[in-house]
Amino acid sequence: MRLGVNVDHVATVRQARLGKVPDPVRLAQEAQRAGCDGIVCHLREDRRHIQTGDLSRFKRGLGIPLNLEMAAVPEIVRIACRIRPAQATLVPERRRELTTEGGLNLKRGNRRLLEAVRRLTRAGIRVSLFIDPAPAAVLAAAALGAPMVELHTGGYAEARTASDRKRHLERLRTAADLAGRLNLAVAAGHGLDTGNVGPVVRIAPVEELNIGFSIVARALTVGMRQAVLEMRRAIRKGKGRS
Ligand code: PXP
Repeated sequence: MRLGVNVDHVATVRQARLGKVPDPVRLAQEAQRAGCDGIVCHLREDRRHIQTGDLSRFKRGLGIPLNLEMAAVPEIVRIACRIRPAQATLVPERRRELTTEGGLNLKRGNRRLLEAVRRLTRAGIRVSLFIDPAPAAVLAAAALGAPMVELHTGGYAEARTASDRKRHLERLRTAADLAGRLNLAVAAGHGLDTGNVGPVVRIAPVEELNIGFSIVARALTVGMRQAVLEMRRAIRKGKGRS
């Protein structure tokens, strides 16, 4: 299971004073040294955390793949094609949301999304689509021609009762199985932490987890290295290997 560490919220703290520290690139390098497989960051249109200039620094400063989360808008697509991260994850963006609240709207004929998938793919970037764990969304993602989907685990992570959690897990399983049968690579993420990651790890088609907030929050107490090691341990334990 690959682990991508999202360092957006290191930049959130930096932007609180519009300064240079804490530096998301330096913290990403620490996460890399602790053994994560990739670094994730989201260049939002409102630039509330990651800045355009951070992207080339990530590319230069990392020896592991960069996964750029982004909206399918021309300005950001242009930047992505210039920077050429290994992967781009297309996400919906709403100006007033605290974080990415749902999966992409994959209504047929979404020309903007189709155009973004094509342009990014032509630039040699592997495209993943962040979708709700629903069969219709998986089918629509496959029709758009992206080789990968990331299933939104927010509903599962926020479930308040055991039965609700079970229902969300079942949705994730069904969507992951369908994506696997359609030969899509499958990632999952949003709201995952060391306490809830186990059942997601056991969904066989899921090969990558992208986790940000819980790791960065834990890193404030124990440091990035330890926070990544703890997540790695929880993932191993989830797989039944401790
Ligand atoms: N995957 C995607 C597509 C996201 O948008 C986010 C949030 O930026 C994450 C994973 C990570 O979510 P969290 O910060 O809740 O771990």
